[in-house]
Amino acid sequence: MSVIKKFRIKSFKKQHAVISFQKVSITFGKRIVLDEINFNINQGEIFGMLGPNGVGKSTIFNLITGLIKPDSGKIIIENSDVTSLPISLRTTKFGIGYCPQYSGYFHNLSVLENLKAVGEILIKDEKDRKSKVDELIGDFELENTLDLKAKNLSGGQKKKLAISLSLIGNPKILLLDEPFAALDILSISNLQQIIVGLQTRSNITVIVCDHQARDLLSCVDIAIVLSNSKVITKGTPSEITSDELAKSSYFGQKFKIN
Ligand SMILES: Nc1ncnc2c1ncn2[C@@H]1O[C@H](COP(=O)(O)OP(=O)(O)OP(=O)(O)O)[C@@H](O)[C@H]1O
Ligand SMILES: [Mg+2]
Repeated sequence: MSVIKKFRIKSFKKQHAVISFQKVSITFGKRIVLDEINFNINQGEIFGMLGPNGVGKSTIFNLITGLIKPDSGKIIIENSDVTSLPISLRTTKFGIGYCPQYSGYFHNLSVLENLKAVGEILIKDEKDRKSKVDELIGDFELENTLDLKAKNLSGGQKKKLAISLSLIGNPKILLLDEPFAALDILSISNLQQIIVGLQTRSNITVIVCDHQARDLLSCVDIAIVLSNSKVITKGTPSEITSDELAKSSYFGQKFKIN
């Protein structure tokens, strides 16, 4: 396994669950996408979600932010039942940053204008705002794209912009929907370091899904695998990749993390 994650926190048992899904179900038309799923995400954990296309990973992010509501079951954030709390209250109350699978920026604004616009919404103090924007420009190597309209960026540059925007408000809970998609090899490694650095320095909780399973598993503490509307396994990267059900439904028999 790559050395991105130098250590994994072995036990989160003494810490509290920051997000809890309790028997959450959602159906679109006749299709049951999530069927009474349960899982806890602990404070400060880097939590991965894996599963085939269309299994419901982005739907889980939408349920956490409040973009959609479950048909049944409860979503608990920081001990509060937020199942019917609107998106605006959830994101501000719990400090949720969200990088969606697609878009996540203003298409007709330049990179710098995007950063300034979101910064103005989330950071009141002008000096703090400027220093955060400068920090993100450096972290995500956006210096050469500042004047370009977001719609004209390359796929990977767009992703970097969307991820940096999700970090402007110094979130306590960060949701990353396929952050590695479209990034080049060095940028993936840079993002892995940033994610692990956020956990180490600020103890923020990160929930991340991606189809780059190796890249994802080299920076998470715990991951779940979803299949056929259910969570079929939860554990450390080595536990889930040796799980027979996860192998037959998602990883295949030849997948290895190192
Ligand atoms: N608003 C909606 N209306 C109807 N169907 C929806 C809606 N949102 C999601 N779906 C369906 O729910 C299923 C799960 O979608 P979701 O986007 O959560 O999958 P995913 O696991 O993120 O997939 P991918 O890996 O391709 O991104 C899909 O079959 C999708 O078509
Ligand atoms: Mg998705």
